This record gives sequence, structure tokens and C-alpha cells, in this order.
Amino acid sequence: MDKFLIQGGTALRGEIAVSGAKNASLALLAATLLNSGINTISNTPRLNDVSTMLKLLAQLGCGYTFTNNIVTIDSVSVDNQFAPYELVKKMRASIYVLGPLLARYGYAKVSLPGGCAWGPRPVNLHIEGLRKMGAELTVENGYIIAKTKRLQAAKLNFDISSVGATGNLLMASVLASGTTVINNAAMEPEITNLALYLQNMGAKISGIGTPILEIEGVDELHPADIETIPDRIEAGTILIAAAITKGTVTLQNVPEKHLHSIVAKLQDAGADVKTTSSSITIDAANCSLTPQNIITSPFPGFPTDMQAQWIALMSVTKGTTTVTDSIYLDRFSHVPELNRLGADIMIKENNAIIRGVKKLTGAKVMSTDLRASASLVLAGLAAEGETEVLRVYHLDRGYESLEKKLSSLGANITRVAGTEY
Ligand code: UD1
Repeated sequence: MDKFLIQGGTALRGEIAVSGAKNASLALLAATLLNSGINTISNTPRLNDVSTMLKLLAQLGCGYTFTNNIVTIDSVSVDNQFAPYELVKKMRASIYVLGPLLARYGYAKVSLPGGCAWGPRPVNLHIEGLRKMGAELTVENGYIIAKTKRLQAAKLNFDISSVGATGNLLMASVLASGTTVINNAAMEPEITNLALYLQNMGAKISGIGTPILEIEGVDELHPADIETIPDRIEAGTILIAAAITKGTVTLQNVPEKHLHSIVAKLQDAGADVKTTSSSITIDAANCSLTPQNIITSPFPGFPTDMQAQWIALMSVTKGTTTVTDSIYLDRFSHVPELNRLGADIMIKENNAIIRGVKKLTGAKVMSTDLRASASLVLAGLAAEGETEVLRVYHLDRGYESLEKKLSSLGANITRVAGTEY
């Protein structure tokens, strides 16, 4: 297992282009199962989660190439509808193949994802939605087994906003008979990217980008091309890297509208952040930040995927901050590790209460999940002395060469390949 060695204390400076979004990419790749032909998806990030999705598509019979961040998927030769536990356990987003397989082939056997590092993550909305669309669904030996002659349109009213359930049921409904309505649909930019891709394939969808999606099912979709949107979580993580090191960084290829809640919080905290339609510049060189409470919520609210990074920043911000995660109530495994670096953070229910300290000091810390790892890297960049972040395979699931990007901005960070950890 690899680790990162970080010598903290260098202000980041420079300009960087943001990679394609992991969460968009996984949905776009799964959507290629809805047609028969060659699909091209550009700006695909090279990440372990993307490799897992490509392996899953290959297991279903797809051919693919992946060159220079361009993936081509040949969905002509899909010859089975089985998503095995061995792949699904590596990545919960594998559940995205359920809707497309069922819609196109009338059958799917997909391993039920288990819990995750920060507690239960149910897929009841996916299952209930498909049942409402007429599918016969059972859970046997850890697998969801779904069958249908043809999915039927339905009115799907989500009690809570779910990115995964919206994506899965959107992909299921594009080939269903009749007009499906999804109420309280997730409005995340990754869902909009998916909906636009489905439109490119010939799907009839209205209300894209709003909480009410109307999908008029068609008999067949054709192969199509799409560009993956930039990764707003990677962008937000690098903005915080600049803020926590008192640096000045420009991000290229990133629309501010996808990061509005993060940019606004950084501005409220006192950072100088300027935006154009496709770039964001943060100058934190001469500012002293003030605590800003956050409550995570669905888009356009502050993303749960940026909660751990925000806590890292607030841990060295004078004053007391409360960070509440309303989406994943237990997503705080980074907190004890940040405290090992000298942070002063307490957890009360789904709140982290952070008392800003003057400085963090380097230590060995352990990654526990993807975004928790990112927060440890950020803290290491600010800490005095050397920080070792162990088990960075969590980070590799969702960040494309983060250490190289940070190095190019002047950070002293190196990857050490090893087996010891
Ligand atoms: C997606 C993102 C993940 C992000 C999360 C929330 C991908 C691949 N992953 O995950 O990075 O942290 O959105 O923004 O895009 N829920 C249910 N029943 C369901 C489905 C969800 O109760 O059937 C709950 C979840 O427990 C959670 C909330 O709904 O509390 C939102 O989860 P959801 O948006 O579905 O997360 P994912 O799609 O799994």
C-alpha cells in the first residue's frame, strides 16, 4: 500500500486544470449499456473507481479503450447481466448498472452493496422505484435479481434527494413505456451531465437541472458522445489546499456555478476568491480566515464530499466552528486522525465542533475513506514538520494524481510505494 510523505508549510502557488468528475464519469460509463454501438466519453479521469467500472462493463461483455482521458465503450456485445460481489464491494456506484441492464435486457443480477466506512448506505429508493415501474425484484444470496418484460412509466416521489437513485431511475425510465416523472430529483451537476448524455442518445427528458424530471420513454437509443464535466470536489479540495497554506492558486476548466456554495463559504471566511465562467482564483496569502459553520445538503448546498476538507481548514482557523453533516450522520472518521495532528475537534451526534488551533504538527495518520484522506493531506500541507498519510489507496479511488497536481503548485509531497501499511 502506498503512502504520502508531506513536508508542510509551503504556500501553494500557480495554475492548474481540474480533471473530469469521478461521480459524473461513473454514471456516464454505465449509461452506455442503454444502446448498442460505440460510445465516446471524453475528459474521463484516470482513477481506480473508473477502472472498476470499466472492469464491470467488460465483465458484462463491453469492449473498451482508454487513451488520453478518452474512453470508447463498445456496447454491441453485452452478453450477460451479472454484476458480481467482487466488483460491487469495491465500489458502491456499481449499482448504476442495475437500471440500464433492466431497461435494455429485462433482466439484471447485481450484488447488493453493503455498508460503507461511514455507516449504512441503503439502496431502497432504487429498488422501490424499479418496483413501481413494474419490475419484479427479489434479494437472494446477497444479489438483487430484477426482471421485467418492459419497464412501465411511473410517478416516482422521492422522500429524500438521492444522486444514485435519480441516476439509476433516470437511466431505467428512458427506455420505459410511457412518461415517467421523478419528483425531488437530485440536481447535482453530475446528474445533469448524465441527462444531457441520455438526450444525445435520443432520450426525451425535460426539466434537466430541476427537481422535477419528466422522461418520455423511447423504444431504442443510439450510441453517442459526451464530455465529462470537471470535478467540483477535486476543485474544492485544491481551493482549500490554497487557503490552508495561505497560497494563491487559479483553477482552470471549472465553472463557478458548480462550486458556488464552496466559493461563497471561502469568501465569507475572508479569502479573496474571483471567478470567471470557467476559472476560479483564490488568493489567501494575506488574509486571516474566520470560522464559518456549514451544514451539508444536496446541491446547490454545501456538499458532504467537502465536509472533511472544510473541517481541516477550520481546524487551523481561529475561533470555534460547527460542521454538521445532514446527509451522512457518521461521516467523521477523519476527526481522530486530524486530532493526532494537533487539531481540537469533538464530535457530538452529526456535528463536529472545531476549536481552531495555532498550528498542526506532523504525524503518521491513516486514511479511512476517500474524502477523509483528502482532509489529512490538506492538514499535512499546513502542519509543521513531516506528515505521513498511510493507505492512500482510498484517495486513489477518486483523485487523479492529486500529489502531482499539488507538487506542481509547490507542495512538498511524495508518494512512497510500499507493502508495509
Ligand atoms: C453520491 C456520490 C457521493 C456523495 C453522495 C451525496 C456518486 C458515485 N457518489 O452517492 O460521492 O457523497 O452522492 O452527495 O455519485 N439514501 C437512502 N436510500 C437510497 C439512496 C440514498 O436513504 O436508496 C440516502 C443516503 O443514505 C444518504 C442520502 O440518501 O443519506 C443521499 O445519498 P445519495 O445521494 O443516494 O448518495 P450516493 O448516490 O450513494
